Amino acid sequence: MTETIPVGAQPFQSAPVHASVMHINGGKPLNGRIDIKGAKNLVTKAMVASLLGTTPSVLRNVPDISDVRVVAGLLDLHGVKISHGEHLDDLVLDPRAVEQAHMAEINAYAGDSRIPILFCGPLLHRLGEALIPDLGGCKIGSRPIDYHLAVLRSFGAKVEKLPEGIRMTAPDGLHGAKIELPYPSVGATEQVLLTSTLAEGITVLKGAAVEPEIIDLVAILQKMGAVITVQADRVIRVEGVQELKGYVHRAICDRNEAASWASAALATEGDITVGGAKQEDMMAFLNVFRKVGGGFEVMEDGIRFYQADSELHSVAIETDVHPGFMTDWQQPLVVALTKAHGMSVVHETVYENRFKFTEALVQMGANIQLYRECLGSVHCRFGERNFFHSAVIAGPTGLHGADIVVPDLRGGFSHVVAALSAQGHSTVRNVGIISRGYERFTEKLDALGADFDDDAAEVRA
Ligand code: EPU
Repeated sequence: MTETIPVGAQPFQSAPVHASVMHINGGKPLNGRIDIKGAKNLVTKAMVASLLGTTPSVLRNVPDISDVRVVAGLLDLHGVKISHGEHLDDLVLDPRAVEQAHMAEINAYAGDSRIPILFCGPLLHRLGEALIPDLGGCKIGSRPIDYHLAVLRSFGAKVEKLPEGIRMTAPDGLHGAKIELPYPSVGATEQVLLTSTLAEGITVLKGAAVEPEIIDLVAILQKMGAVITVQADRVIRVEGVQELKGYVHRAICDRNEAASWASAALATEGDITVGGAKQEDMMAFLNVFRKVGGGFEVMEDGIRFYQADSELHSVAIETDVHPGFMTDWQQPLVVALTKAHGMSVVHETVYENRFKFTEALVQMGANIQLYRECLGSVHCRFGERNFFHSAVIAGPTGLHGADIVVPDLRGGFSHVVAALSAQGHSTVRNVGIISRGYERFTEKLDALGADFDDDAAEVRA
């Protein structure tokens, strides 16, 4: 590493003010430019990776979102010193005094985050013990951790379930393993990466997830000194090394946020330039966006999204692991599909319970029917298990304002977009959850000309 790391330059801080209720006057297009930062689904894992280093790491392009604050809090509990670097969106993570935290503190801090499970490998390497709480995350399915536990056991971890959480130890150290995942899980692949790099010997993972955020994590680990090969057909091979150093890395952009704003442009008949968006990370989305009637202009520093055709067209999509159409892209797009001519079909194959948000859209006048059947051809684990995981959207329907409650992160974004595109006034409750993944959400809406007020405005003033 050639850069000087300004450890402790400015204490880590953020001053978020999040509304829990928004009052929205809809029917106005969103127009203008907003800039996005690093991907939530990389940044939080990159912060955990710093635990593996013997020297401090610097992560750039970090968004000020609550998931980052939760992980920063958890790292702090484990003795990692966190400060801002040269810029406010740089984090300096110094793991030289890592120590064990108490289960009660971890439980209190983790909130709904699922990231604590990824602390296990690094903490086992550093301290020989890891404690993790009951895990949360958005309520979009049962979200088990069985793959994670199986992965950790294959490396030699001993897992003990306690009333207040899970305790792991590695009495004989962690050793490379041959692992095959039953499904290309993002989290379980990250678990293998974070555990194998310092494990003794060679690890071969089959059935790995290869999302761009995972490849960025591989790049970070390589900078730290790891030896990782991403092979064809979802195989990742890791040769364990004895020591990793800190890294300096700029996080890849949040393609999920970019896709969300793109759909917001379509649903409100607006024109939004997303600074920082990268074409190569969202090609599957851009193909669908174009088929629905959206236009996009790829620029050097972002992508402009707008409605290209005079009317929107229906489309059939199936969510899938990368390089397919991401599950996190469907919710705001469904709002735009309520305005498309014809019957659109969305087959959700990643999470079994990701259509709860459509109830509010129906309340607002959308014609959406949910089915237990697989309406598509992608192999899916949910068809025979009674989950309403396919949606048929008949359009065009005009939406009208309503009083609605946000169920989860991506569903929440889509509710706000629905309210912005609807005729009349809407009250959207529980919007605070949106700050888990969207930085300065209300400021961006302001910049795009949205007509709303919220119960945090007074505090901000
Ligand atoms: N699964 C299991 N057992 C496990 C782990 C996963 O059955 O031990 C199942 C899940 O229940 C799900 C499927 O495997 O049905 C895929 O889950 P995956 O492990 O890939 O998801 P994750 O790592 O928990 C991350 C993102 C999600 C994103 C998914 C898919 C983070 C923090 N979360 O979750 O992001 O949807 O990958 O790409 O990285 C979001 O940003 O709103 C969000 C939910």
